[in-house]
Amino acid sequence: MSPEKNSVDRIIKRRISLGELREYARTPAIVAEDVLTANKSVLLPHGTELASLVSTVDDLEKVLRRWGIFSIPIVIHNEMDIEELEKMLKAAETNLSVIDPQLARQTVEQVENVYDRIARGTCGPEDISNLAMQGRTLAKEVAQAPQVMLCLGKVRGWDEYTYVHSLNVALLGGFLASRLFPDRPEIVERLSMGGILHDLGKARIPKEVLNKPGPLTNEEFAIMKQHPIYGEELAAVNGISDEKVLAVIAGHHERYGGNGYPKGLVKDDICIEARISAVADVFDALTAKRVYKEPMESRMAVSMMLENMSAHFDPVVVRALLVSIGLYPPGTAVELSDGSMGVAVGAREKDLLRPEVLLQIDHMGRKVEEMKIVDLSSSKSLFVHRSLQDVGKIAF
Ligand SMILES: [Fe+2]
Repeated sequence: MSPEKNSVDRIIKRRISLGELREYARTPAIVAEDVLTANKSVLLPHGTELASLVSTVDDLEKVLRRWGIFSIPIVIHNEMDIEELEKMLKAAETNLSVIDPQLARQTVEQVENVYDRIARGTCGPEDISNLAMQGRTLAKEVAQAPQVMLCLGKVRGWDEYTYVHSLNVALLGGFLASRLFPDRPEIVERLSMGGILHDLGKARIPKEVLNKPGPLTNEEFAIMKQHPIYGEELAAVNGISDEKVLAVIAGHHERYGGNGYPKGLVKDDICIEARISAVADVFDALTAKRVYKEPMESRMAVSMMLENMSAHFDPVVVRALLVSIGLYPPGTAVELSDGSMGVAVGAREKDLLRPEVLLQIDHMGRKVEEMKIVDLSSSKSLFVHRSLQDVGKIAF
């Protein structure tokens, strides 16, 4: 598809039983091939619109049965406007259990406020502990919202990157922790609290270095590398005493292979909480839109982390991320093998090819009004025909 095209072509081909004729006569379906008698006379020519048969459908059914014909091949060809589809898919979000948008907005505002106070030297223990408590609330939300991946990026665009990024690292870090340690809510909580605070030290980095729209010079990078240390100090003097939360702040730029900063720790010398936060931090940075770069698709980001950056991250954590994203990341618009369309909302580890899909358009091209989730892993006949992200420019 050319990048200018603003619609998705949809061709639904199938054989329908005679019992379905009446139903399909209400769609733009046409007969896909000539329907012939045993002696090759054409009973129903290829190209006949089923809608034109509405008034004669009972008689037609009798004739077809008499000739031993019990099904006919049909095709529905229509184009779907991408804008229309996007609107529909975005509306699907309201049907999913995701993080409360109010809570997300409030969190980002709170992060911004704390950064501002740090920069002005008016930040006190209460500000930091309130922010940490917000992290705890997020951890509870993460536990209840398995579709947390859908939330990342939802609040982008209405605030500066660093604040939104803090929220996302808290959400994604907590989510990965809940996947890796389902029976350890305290680890989930540390990740969400640590995530919200992880870049706190950036409040002490000069704005011209922090927001520079391009690569940093060696000198600037040396300044930037101080932010985990500043952050840990700030949190500790302001009452954060959980060592693991402090380790997330201090260690989110440490790298599994030892080439991170500030300490250059290696493998298990970096605590699991910091290893998880490193994955969440980089994944969100790669998939974020910045002034100087377009967002990377989540599938691309995770494959890059698996291949080009494999020495940087704990493979167990990256694997958990891969599983969470699956081959059809939550939020991906997909077309199923029967022509229906929907939004992938998650996949099971054993069957990444067969996600659960929130249906938006049924197999006859009609909008699905009620909430209907199809679990492809338990369907023998249905599979994902294509991801619509690959077809059009759907920014869901
Ligand atoms: Fe950082």
